[in-house]
Amino acid sequence: MSAENHQTRPLAPPKIYGRSDEELVPVFKPRPPSSSRGRCSSKCPVYFLAVVVVLAAIALVFSMIVLRPANPEFALRDVSVKFLNYTSDDQAPWLSARLAVRATLKNPNFGPFEFKSSNLTVSYYGTVVGEKALGDGTVWSRETRHVDVTVAVGPSRVAYLKNLSSDMGGKVLELTSYAKLSGRVHLIKIVKRRLTSVLNCTMSVGLSNRRVQDLKCR
Ligand SMILES: *[C@@H]1O[C@H](CO)[C@@H](O)[C@H](O)[C@H]1NC(C)=O
Ligand SMILES: *[C@@H]1O[C@H](CO)[C@@H](O)[C@H](O)[C@H]1NC(C)=O
Ligand SMILES: *[C@@H]1O[C@H](CO)[C@@H](O)[C@H](O)[C@H]1NC(C)=O
Ligand SMILES: *[C@@H]1O[C@H](CO)[C@@H](O)[C@H](O)[C@H]1NC(C)=O
Repeated sequence: MSAENHQTRPLAPPKIYGRSDEELVPVFKPRPPSSSRGRCSSKCPVYFLAVVVVLAAIALVFSMIVLRPANPEFALRDVSVKFLNYTSDDQAPWLSARLAVRATLKNPNFGPFEFKSSNLTVSYYGTVVGEKALGDGTVWSRETRHVDVTVAVGPSRVAYLKNLSSDMGGKVLELTSYAKLSGRVHLIKIVKRRLTSVLNCTMSVGLSNRRVQDLKCR
């Protein structure tokens, strides 16, 4: 405590002298009129350059954030069984189902994403067993669009599928769902970029409880 006081005391008087001294006033007052033109003529290019650099930095950040296109995020949020009927016959396993699918399409871009119609497919070991057209549309800037469709898993498509009978015995069917949306994003109206958004999910359909579990999207 006492050591600090001794150290600060010698420093304090010059500050007080400096504030009250008349020498400091001329430093602030007479110099600007005489030296302001001289300062500008020599330093203006420096200021100009600094402004250009700052503007370039802002433009760069703007273009990196706003003009950088990113593929919209497309994923299944929920799948429920609306209807299910099947026969686990060894010779002719048969299945008819309707799946209510809820998906979200999230547009991270600073501009609307217009997508063309494409099909959402449901597959069983790589064989398409159901598909539904998603329709075309637009997702506005940084918004999330909900896509709700019902996919019919048809009896005609599941005929002669190899593992179906044994999987039905196990009461669980592993299905995959896939959709690829292609479209264009309009960044600040003049810049257009082509983007694609892929939905690729797997799920397990319980035949006895009619529930969809382990919904996972890549
Ligand atoms: C399920 O299919 C069987 C024939 O395979 C039929 O008799 C039955 O009525 C169907 N059930 C429903 C709810 O459609
Ligand atoms: C049948 O299931 C096995 C795994 O249980 C898999 O390796 C095989 O590819 C399946 N075959 C067909 C035709 O789906
Ligand atoms: C989309 O699915 C419909 C049936 O729902 C089918 O007729 C059409 O060919 C499919 N389109 C493509 C590109 O696979
Ligand atoms: C979907 O994702 C899996 C990996 O989770 C990958 O093996 C498969 O090839 C993908 N399917 C398509 C059609 O891209």
